Amino acid sequence: MEIVRTVAELRTWSRAVHRVPGQNIGLVPTMGALHAGHSSLIRAARAACSHVVVSLFVNPTQFGPNEDYSRYPRAFEADCKRAAAEGAGVLFAPAIEEMYPAGAVTFVELEGLGNRLDGWSRPGHFRGVATVVAKLFVAAEPDFAFFGQKDAAQVAVLRRMVADLRFETEIVVCPIVRDADGLALSSRNAYLSAEQRTDALALSRALREVEFLVAQRERRSQALIDTAHRILASVVDLRIDYVALVEWATLEPLETAVPGALFAIAAWVGGTRLIDNTILS
Ligand code: PAJ
Repeated sequence: MEIVRTVAELRTWSRAVHRVPGQNIGLVPTMGALHAGHSSLIRAARAACSHVVVSLFVNPTQFGPNEDYSRYPRAFEADCKRAAAEGAGVLFAPAIEEMYPAGAVTFVELEGLGNRLDGWSRPGHFRGVATVVAKLFVAAEPDFAFFGQKDAAQVAVLRRMVADLRFETEIVVCPIVRDADGLALSSRNAYLSAEQRTDALALSRALREVEFLVAQRERRSQALIDTAHRILASVVDLRIDYVALVEWATLEPLETAVPGALFAIAAWVGGTRLIDNTILS
């Protein structure tokens, strides 16, 4: 696996790949501290594309001023090993100045959509995500880009961005990878103590209960939200950020559950903000 540090080098590589008929590129954007969730994206890219590039960049613009940017887990050596083992051909690991040249003032902002769910509780978050992913798309010119359903609102934002800016990159969404006990894998799980990890299981428990009620034909948004609230509220050291039933594409609240609707939860367990979701059938 080749490690690439600059946009110019990545673009040269991408253009060389595309010059050969039948070759294509799958991009897996990450912030590192790679786990089995990231691995599943790399494997999906490997299965669909002749060439896979994994990007590893802890993007400062998507963190709020009081968030965990400086202490976000970093594990470069282990990440290189995992990305190579899953079949990535290139690891793109730029310095900050490479992604945000001195004096950079250009950002991608999604009106409305960018301020819903996580965009509401983390102002500016999706502006940072959309900006860095647009830069990655411009640099790598991928045919496909792989994202996890884990960050479902991020997927909605990026699909809209691709449509609006007419990027020639197809977004592929991969299922949420969970630990055996149901906890969705996240780089931020590393912050949790043993007790907090047990508390965190309330998120997936609430989602399973919502899925159960939907299977029993409960369709009223408020009833589903109340149920999730009740399960989350039973954990003393958990603070709800949001519980929402929305249309996945627009992130607009729904009164009734429809197939394909996004039921999403964000909650604080101690100082760690966790998210999880389910797409209703
Ligand atoms: P990061 O949190 O590192 O996640 C990288 C990708 O892995 C995202 O698409 C995310 O949805 C996916 N992922 C994380 N946990 C997962 C799980 N348990 N199962 C399946 N997929 C999972 O998301 C970001 O980085 C950043 O916002 C980024 C898109 C890289 C822009 O900076």
